[in-house]
Amino acid sequence: MKICVIGLGYIGLPTAAMFANAGHTVIGVDKKQAVVDALNKGEILIEEEGLADFIKKPVASGHLCAKNSVEEADAFIVSVPTPITDEKKADMRFVESATKDIVSVLKEGNLVILESTSPIGTVDSLMKPILDTAGVNYYLGHSPERVIPGKILYELVHNSRVAGGYTKEAAHMIAELYKSFVEGEIYETDARTAEMAKLSENTFRDVNIAFANELAKICEQQGINVWELIEICNKHPRVNIHQPGPGVGGHCIAVDPWFIVEKEPGLAQIINLSRHTNDGMPQYVADRSKAILGDLKGKTIAILGTTYKPDVDDMRESPIIYLRKILEDAGAIVNINDPFVAEKNLDVSCKDVDLIILGVNHKQYKELDFAHLAGIVKQKNFFDTRNFCDGDKAKAAGFRYELLGK
Ligand SMILES: NC(=O)c1ccc[n+]([C@@H]2O[C@H](COP(=O)([O-])OP(=O)(O)OC[C@H]3O[C@@H](n4cnc5c(N)ncnc54)[C@H](O)[C@@H]3O)[C@@H](O)[C@H]2O)c1
Repeated sequence: MKICVIGLGYIGLPTAAMFANAGHTVIGVDKKQAVVDALNKGEILIEEEGLADFIKKPVASGHLCAKNSVEEADAFIVSVPTPITDEKKADMRFVESATKDIVSVLKEGNLVILESTSPIGTVDSLMKPILDTAGVNYYLGHSPERVIPGKILYELVHNSRVAGGYTKEAAHMIAELYKSFVEGEIYETDARTAEMAKLSENTFRDVNIAFANELAKICEQQGINVWELIEICNKHPRVNIHQPGPGVGGHCIAVDPWFIVEKEPGLAQIINLSRHTNDGMPQYVADRSKAILGDLKGKTIAILGTTYKPDVDDMRESPIIYLRKILEDAGAIVNINDPFVAEKNLDVSCKDVDLIILGVNHKQYKELDFAHLAGIVKQKNFFDTRNFCDGDKAKAAGFRYELLGK
């Protein structure tokens, strides 16, 4: 088949490469000229394990190329961004624009698949009315992506997938197309269920983390260590409590639940509360920092880690960005250390500080030299928001060691 993949980012590019390596002819389309030029030279601009090599063969053989506008094909896959606005509403401009681009080239019998994580009703209320203006019969549906960055090539093949069709035939056609490379189960359903499935998966994790954060606060009041508590509870065969922390970031878990809240504000109560609980964690960490230092005004604080999760360079929606702002607004001077995206040298970041906060559990912070740090800080205060560092070593070096959730 000839497949047009619209949006060559973290999702679109590996997907395009999968179809091309499976023998289809794939045209990747992106509005960014640099992305198009790079791919046509056999290069990529994103970091993803194995991807740089994986695209080389299909580009060389002509099975994969990039263009900056959509052209006629048998199938279209839309993998453009679906962010939220400052008002926590879904920003569907990219999906709308990509769908409009398809109209001019849509032919009888074509298949259009939305991969982007989208609010319920995007397929039937946003895309279908636009595509109908082409005046041809076509098949439409949603097959959301579940992969995790860093393991995308493995998970694209091995994860199970949902094929949600506007009609049953569309669902079946989507499933058949993905069978080109998917070895996991492909579950056929309707498009609205597929949309809600993807949102529910990420919301499950957000609500679970909010529960862990609430437990952390309760445990602090009750003199219990929440990390030990969760470890014990998770030994129950049917319990899986996630980990507390300074907040939830990234462009999926911190975003997707809002799509449900926007659609059903009166009903999505636990979901809404969980989002607010997790978004409130940077303030909670700042409040505890204030309890350690007294007034924050004029105090210097080093935060170790600023990305949204460990061992990556991705800062999208990172709660540490908000924590930094809250501390600075309270008059503190904040030094950010991060082996991926900021100052790497701990001596530079921690010199003469009044408090060190462990914000992200990057592996580089696992074996901190507390004896050395004790010699360069102004006040020996350490606040671990991830239960990641060796508290005994910190205390042995003279630090006051504080732990979130204890
Ligand atoms: N990255 C992930 O881990 C992940 C996982 C699951 C689902 N998703 C979802 O997949 C979708 C895409 O995410 P991503 O991380 O690949 O985004 P991305 O920002 O990495 O890439 C999107 C690409 O689309 C291009 N683009 C935007 N509008 C366009 C248009 N009208 N025509 C052509 N190109 C256009 C951009 O230039 C960009 O290169 C989102 O809905 C996201 O929520 C992402």
